Amino acid sequence: MSLLKNFSLYCLAVGWSFAVSAQQGETISAPSDDAGYPPMVVQTCFSCHGPRGQSQSPAIPSIAGLPRDYLLNVLAAYRYGGRFGTIMDRIMGAYDKHQVAIMADYFSRQPYRVNKQDAKWQLADRGRQLHRRYCRECHGDGLQLSDKGAPLLIGGWMDYLRWTIRDYLVGINQGDEEMSRQLARLIRNHGEPGLEALIHYYGKGRP
Ligand code: HEC
Ligand code: HEC
Repeated sequence: MSLLKNFSLYCLAVGWSFAVSAQQGETISAPSDDAGYPPMVVQTCFSCHGPRGQSQSPAIPSIAGLPRDYLLNVLAAYRYGGRFGTIMDRIMGAYDKHQVAIMADYFSRQPYRVNKQDAKWQLADRGRQLHRRYCRECHGDGLQLSDKGAPLLIGGWMDYLRWTIRDYLVGINQGDEEMSRQLARLIRNHGEPGLEALIHYYGKGRP
């Protein structure tokens, strides 16, 4: 765990900031030198995560365009602890560091996708306010990443986000300590409806 913590701190220290913009259901292009055939080792991921990591299934997250260091971090966490997986923990046991680096390189260079799904705009409006208050500092403003190393949540599949947030709340996912505090504050002040509003804001995919 301490290794992972150090790595997270390293990610925070390095920091990111790049801006992207997208229409709902569209992909946005990131600089890519992957015009050719994807490396063999990432093709096994497509069966669940979709072509290029853009998932078509609400239960499975898109992994295209996630920050490289976040990918390295979360893939290690599935294997060594800190992130709960129904399946990813077993999958990651089969790969070495070199292969994992190829995956992180490849998926971080694919275009980020804002998924199209049914979200209620009344809830999304409320969720936007809650995001600004509790989550924006780390998870970014609209499609603009923060410098804290956390992935964008906007445009993510609602089912996946709902379950994943639950995993942090019950503690089988161990994230950032400050994030745990903000999640606890959110639940204390706004309860389940607050959480659901946030999910609809992310699902709506409009900054
Ligand atoms: C059998 C289906 C399946 C395959 C194959 C698969 N994944 Fe996953 N992946 C999932 C599911 C489901 C989750 C959600 C966590 C869980 O339940 O394990 C997930 C979560 C993830 C996440 C976390 C995304 C986030 O937003 O934090 C990453 C990164 C990831 N997978 C990468 C990969 C890579 C790289 C491969 C190829 C080696 C791969 N996955 C192969 C099903 C799969
Ligand atoms: C202090 C910074 C910080 C704050 C504030 C924060 N997070 Fe996070 N969050 C992170 C980091 C860092 C990660 C990656 C942790 C990991 O590797 O498990 C993360 C991961 C997540 C994930 C998993 C993403 C994925 O694709 O699997 C979700 C969902 C999430 N946060 C939701 C929230 C919500 C909702 C809020 C606001 C209530 C919030 N976070 C506030 C830093 C933060």
